[in-house]
Amino acid sequence: MRSIRDIKLFESIPILVRATLNVPTKNGEVTNDYRLRRALPTIRFLSERGAKVILISHIGEKGTETLAPIATRLGKLISGVSFFRETVGAGARSAIRELAPGQILVLENLRRNAGEQTNDRAFARELAALGDIFVQDSFDTCHRVHASIVGVPEILPSYAGFLLEDEVRELSYALTPKHPSLAVIGGMKFSTKEAVLTRLLAIYDKVFIGGALANSFLKASGKEVGKSLVSTTDENTLKKFIANPKLVLPIDSVVKNESIFDHGLGTMALLADLAQKAKTILWNGPLGKYEDGFRGATNAFARATADSGAHSIVGGGDTVASIEGLGLLSRFSFVSTGGGAMLDFLARGTLPGIEALN
Ligand code: 3PG
Repeated sequence: MRSIRDIKLFESIPILVRATLNVPTKNGEVTNDYRLRRALPTIRFLSERGAKVILISHIGEKGTETLAPIATRLGKLISGVSFFRETVGAGARSAIRELAPGQILVLENLRRNAGEQTNDRAFARELAALGDIFVQDSFDTCHRVHASIVGVPEILPSYAGFLLEDEVRELSYALTPKHPSLAVIGGMKFSTKEAVLTRLLAIYDKVFIGGALANSFLKASGKEVGKSLVSTTDENTLKKFIANPKLVLPIDSVVKNESIFDHGLGTMALLADLAQKAKTILWNGPLGKYEDGFRGATNAFARATADSGAHSIVGGGDTVASIEGLGLLSRFSFVSTGGGAMLDFLARGTLPGIEALN
């Protein structure tokens, strides 16, 4: 992966940056700008060297949302930001030509164009026509085989931005943890976690399964889960995981209307003890039904990790939001901007968007 530091010429060069501007919004206002703040070092580096900085990103799953309010918020964090209402085409190219050196242009949501998610060659060529150089800095989407992730780097000279470099370095470290090591994986669907759980069980000393994901394991191990959400995974697959002595499951629960909503005090104490002993802690996914306000175990584990002295790596939207809400973000060694991308990287050691830069 060539680094943004290896770029030779900046002054007046249009540099296309795949950035991580997919942030939560409500009524047209950004409700959490964490990812925008993490995007700044790369944007600032290019802008200060006189490049014309062109930011491309998606927002939301479907392409119905606009990046306009995100551009406004970004403009409060760094000067010289403007927005153009299209992603590609003559209008976008002319807006780029008019930029002064160091100015920053945010183009409209990539996913408004059908060719983005299908990795259409013609759309990748249209994107590539916007700049002379491509910088990939959106780790959170590097697991997607989309035009702005894998198509453009086939066409333009391509480099990794600072955020992507940090993510790769830190998550590679997470794959060679110091022992004793503890991995905590929460969230919901087993199907999206099977590969990462397999990998982590080979590397980590203890792998705790939390959140709704734990329900299926508890049921397969003969525990009563009432009406709790369980996945449709074949029980024999789950039993193979349960037989692994490194796997740790919750030992008690907070139950409401016959459903498990959170882990209980015994589990919190168990996790605090594992965290205190660990030299590396890796965490992705909330532990209770976070979205319904059941945050006891998530908050308790966030505090235990912050107090542990371990090298701590955390990721996933809800997990990071909960830690930020507690004011503990700065007490974690590394906070990944990736959710699914973080899990896929841990499972495979690379991602399509990273391979595309090699
Ligand atoms: C994320 O928020 O996880 C990334 O921005 C990727 O978004 P996606 O899941 O819609 O591809």
